[in-house]
Amino acid sequence: MKYAIGIDIGGTNTKLGLVELSGKVLAHDRFNTPDYKTFESYVEMLSSRIKAMMDNSNGECMGIGIGAPNGNFYKGSIDNAPNLPFGKGEFMLVRELRNRFGLHHIYMTNDANAAALGEKIYGGAKGLEHFITITLGTGLGSGIVIDGKLLYGADGAAGELGHTCAVPNGRLCNCGCRGCLETYASATGIKRTYFELLAFYGGGSQIQNKGYDEIDALAIELAARAGDKIALETYQKTGEILGKNLANFVAFSRPQKIFLFGGPVKSGELLLEPTRKALDENLYPIWKGKIEVVPSQLPESDAAILGSSSLVWDAVEREV
Ligand code: BGC
Ligand code: NA
Ligand code: ZN
Repeated sequence: MKYAIGIDIGGTNTKLGLVELSGKVLAHDRFNTPDYKTFESYVEMLSSRIKAMMDNSNGECMGIGIGAPNGNFYKGSIDNAPNLPFGKGEFMLVRELRNRFGLHHIYMTNDANAAALGEKIYGGAKGLEHFITITLGTGLGSGIVIDGKLLYGADGAAGELGHTCAVPNGRLCNCGCRGCLETYASATGIKRTYFELLAFYGGGSQIQNKGYDEIDALAIELAARAGDKIALETYQKTGEILGKNLANFVAFSRPQKIFLFGGPVKSGELLLEPTRKALDENLYPIWKGKIEVVPSQLPESDAAILGSSSLVWDAVEREV
């Protein structure tokens, strides 16, 4: 059996998948990204997990595909990622892994671009020529497909919609700017909104006595489901700001659909309903009611794993 290893690097989790060409993910693995404070220690950990995955499978590894925040498709590097523990610098991950594994087919792209590729080849974007993917995680990632092509731009990093200004002079972003969309619409943005509302109302939430670390987007979602007013308003506000900004993105590329990825999307209508409403309210009138916002159609948050592994299959195909 021939397989590729797909890797989805996130600010919270690094996920690996052993992938067949058919799109079947035969094995998964994961570890905590923030535990590795230097690039060297991160590469050590990642390499050991890759090796373990290879050792536990009895096929032929055709290559490794990586989706990473600020992952540069042209250079194979992670450049100044705002939400990764090793921070500022250009980290040549592809070169490192090529040296260690002696494999030629090792490629990288942005994590949200990888999700777009995964959705296009194996998921709900099959056959679509124009769509946008938005990944809500530690940050907000995006992949923009226009006329069948994933945008890379002048330097391989196009499609950074998380760092468009949603609120002038707003929240401080890890990138150094203020008001970036990802400081509002992301798992970390949800947490910030919750605590802002809690301070504003001076209490009144069922989960407010939990430790700060225990209150994350999922805990807030569960509270919202149990009727917690502050948690409900948090998801409402998140959807409003996301939808309003999606309307801007639609004006730029006129997608057929917008796909949402990441933990907060599992909250379903809690986030989708206000997002769709705000999108429609702010849309250029000729497109009102025409732009669908849907969650990824792929199971187990595998889109980026599948999309990054597809870079390997593409390259192997070009060889023959
Ligand atoms: C980064 C993107 C990434 C996104 C999601 C953002 O902060 O700038 O490159 O796609 O987070 O991980
Ligand atoms: Na992108
Ligand atoms: Zn930013």
